[in-house]
Amino acid sequence: MEEQLKALQEQMEQDAAAVGSTEELSAFWQKYLSKNGSVSGLMKGLRDVPPESRPVVGKAINQFKVQAEEVYQNLRARIEQAELENANRSEQIDITMPAVRRSTGALHPITITKNQMIDVFAGMGFEIFEGPEIEDDDHNFTRLNVAKNHPARDMQDTFYVAEDIVLRTHTSPGQIRVMDREKPPIKVLVPGRVFRSDSDATHSPMFHQMEGLVVDKGITLCDLQGMLDKFVQTIFSGDVKTRLRPSYFPFTEPSVEVDVSCFECGGKGCPLCKHTGWIEVLGGGVVHHKVLENCGIDPQVYSGIAFGIGVERIAMLKYGINNMGLLFENDLRFLKQFKD
Ligand code: PHE
Repeated sequence: MEEQLKALQEQMEQDAAAVGSTEELSAFWQKYLSKNGSVSGLMKGLRDVPPESRPVVGKAINQFKVQAEEVYQNLRARIEQAELENANRSEQIDITMPAVRRSTGALHPITITKNQMIDVFAGMGFEIFEGPEIEDDDHNFTRLNVAKNHPARDMQDTFYVAEDIVLRTHTSPGQIRVMDREKPPIKVLVPGRVFRSDSDATHSPMFHQMEGLVVDKGITLCDLQGMLDKFVQTIFSGDVKTRLRPSYFPFTEPSVEVDVSCFECGGKGCPLCKHTGWIEVLGGGVVHHKVLENCGIDPQVYSGIAFGIGVERIAMLKYGINNMGLLFENDLRFLKQFKD
C-alpha cells in the first residue's frame, strides 16, 4: 500500500507539472479527486487492509488526499491568474494610438455659395420657388417679352429639345410661373440650373442662376439697389457698394447691369477689377409692364423689380477662381479646399 501511494504521489506530481489549461486542470481533478478518482479508490481499498494497519494506512491516504487537494488548489489559482492575464492582454487598449480617420464629404463650392445667397435673401423675406429645367418657348421667351424673331433670342444660345421646347436659358421663366400662380405682393427667389451653348474659361453649357422677383405697389429701382447692396455686403465684404449701369433686357425696363465696388482693392484699381474699381456681378431692372400684363397683373397698380445672379460668377469672385471649368471637373484636390 505504501508503495502504491508513493507511486501515485510521483504520478500526481508529474501530472501536476503538465497542467497548463482549465481543461487539463479538470482532467487532473477527475483523475485524483472525483468520486471515481484515485483518492476514492484508495479509501475503498482500505477495507482490504488488515484492521491493525488501518489507522496508519488511513492516515497516509488522508495525507495524500490533503496533498492532492493542495496541489489542485495551487494549480487552479495559477491557471486562473494566467487566464486573467491573457484576457487583460488581449483586451488591452492603447489610448495613445491615433484613431482611424474617416474622411467625410463636404459641400461643393457652388452649393456653399448658393446656400449663402439663399440665406441673404431669405433674411429679407424672399420665398423659394423652383421651376422646370425643360421649358416651353412661351415661358422662356415669349411671355418674357421676347417675341419670336426677337433679336434678343440670339443673345442666348439656346439648346432646343424639340420645337418650342428648350432647356431653360435663364431662371427668368420662374417669374412667369410665380406670377401665374400668385398675385402681389410677391417676393420670390428662383434658384436653378440653366443651359446655354457656350463654353470657355468663364462660360459653361450648364450653370446656375438665382432669379429674384418682387412685385407690389410702389416698387422701384431703389428697392433693387437697396436689396443688392445688402446682398453684396454679406457675400463679399461689409464696405462694398453697388453701381447701376444702363443695360438692356427685353423683360425689364429700365434694365441695369449691377457692378460691385472692387472688394480686393477697395476701388483703387487692381487686376481683379481690370483697374476699373468695379466688378460686374448681375443683371436686373424694373419688370417690363408687358410681362406684368402677360401674367394678368395690372401695371397701373403694381410694379416690380427683377434680377438674375450667376452663382458660378459669385463663387469665382468670392473664392478667386479663375477658370469656371474647375467648378465642374470635380477634381478632389480642388474641392477639398472648400472643406471647412
Ligand atoms: N435673365 C437674365 C439673364 O439670364 C438676367 C436678368 C434677370 C435680367 C432678371 C433682368 C432681370 O441674363
